[in-house]
Amino acid sequence: MSDSSAPDLNEVVKAHKVLVICGTGGVGKTTVSASIALGAALAGQRVLVMTIDPAKRLADSLGVVGKLNEATPIDLRAALGDDVELSEGGSLHAMMLDAKGTWDDTVRRFAKSQDTQDRIFNNNYYQRASESLSGSQEYMAMERLLEMHATEAYDLVVLDTPPTRNALDFLEAPDRLMAVLEEGILGWLIPKKRGRFSPVAAGARLFGRGREAMFNVLERFMGADVIRGLADFISAMSELLDGMRSRAGEVMELLRSEDCAFLMVAAPNRIALSEGLYFHDRLAEAGIPFRGFVINRVRPAFGEGKTPATPWESNWTRSGEATYDAAVEQVWDEHRRRTRWAHVDRHHINALKAHCGPTLPYVEIPELEGEIHDLDALRLLLAYLE
Ligand SMILES: Nc1ncnc2c1ncn2[C@@H]1O[C@H](COP(=O)(O)OP(=O)(O)OP(=O)(O)O)[C@@H](O)[C@H]1O
Ligand SMILES: [Mg+2]
Repeated sequence: MSDSSAPDLNEVVKAHKVLVICGTGGVGKTTVSASIALGAALAGQRVLVMTIDPAKRLADSLGVVGKLNEATPIDLRAALGDDVELSEGGSLHAMMLDAKGTWDDTVRRFAKSQDTQDRIFNNNYYQRASESLSGSQEYMAMERLLEMHATEAYDLVVLDTPPTRNALDFLEAPDRLMAVLEEGILGWLIPKKRGRFSPVAAGARLFGRGREAMFNVLERFMGADVIRGLADFISAMSELLDGMRSRAGEVMELLRSEDCAFLMVAAPNRIALSEGLYFHDRLAEAGIPFRGFVINRVRPAFGEGKTPATPWESNWTRSGEATYDAAVEQVWDEHRRRTRWAHVDRHHINALKAHCGPTLPYVEIPELEGEIHDLDALRLLLAYLE
């Protein structure tokens, strides 16, 4: 649990309207997001959790299967039983984010004409680009966050984030996405007019005399239709960029505001934690409020948490003395192994605390048995998230 000089995680949750839950792949972001959201709803807040790609059974339990970008209410009494303590006014909605659907909305919002919109939707590249452009999923998560925050229908929006190789990818996504769109695969073929795209000049240059030789080479490899389609896509998309850029500015404003807190989920190992440190420092540099760590899957010392099966529960008999001694030895081995694990985890957690200081909450969730795939299991985590 946290040091006495640090706020509780619950206080952090209560004091903000947006929580961004970040961390590297597989550390438990989706699980922790859903659990924090459930806890806040039970405590009386109107909460929306925006998840990304939850495991099938968790998605079932959140009621979001087949419902993309749609806030779906969860009947907490039905899910947790009538005796669940639900403070008045508390509610939980869940939404599964869908990058493609958000892209479509973005195109509709920012295309300056029906013609541009149609050109984009009908372009073969659009389908692929909206799913695979670098930073696309992250950008779209932020876009949706801004939209849901603006509805004021929720006291708290908890945003799960996509798995990133580097947690900073999330933060840099808007810039990266802009750069990819602006430069494009053929960006070097397309001239800029006063630092912006000029679709007319782009077409002229792409298909003009100066580029004829290059075009011939590309055409030979890729086909004229491919090149034309790509150039058209890039020039149509360029029309969206001003709108998207100002929207990205609004996102950054929200992320930097007092309303927003970043929490990081990390595993207690050297790599995950050193990335946590880096992320913490970069957020501080960027003026973005970092408000705490959830260290997940901490291995408890022997005797804490789940006790392993004792040897005599697993085919050992206590009849012969030698067997009994061997059993005792095996228990000692297990004890030593678990003490070592717990020691290693503690060492890493202490290093993290030493670096980031005593003013943050550092909550620890132990490695639990089995999958955490429904609301009952998420509720079990609440005892640790304080
Ligand atoms: N404390 C825990 N004890 C045991 N299992 C856990 C714990 N936390 C999470 N898990 C399990 O680990 C798996 C990965 O968790 P989760 O999907 O929340 O991670 P994630 O960070 O969202 O992953 P991704 O980066 O792929 O989105 C899930 O099966 C989840 O049930
Ligand atoms: Mg996830």
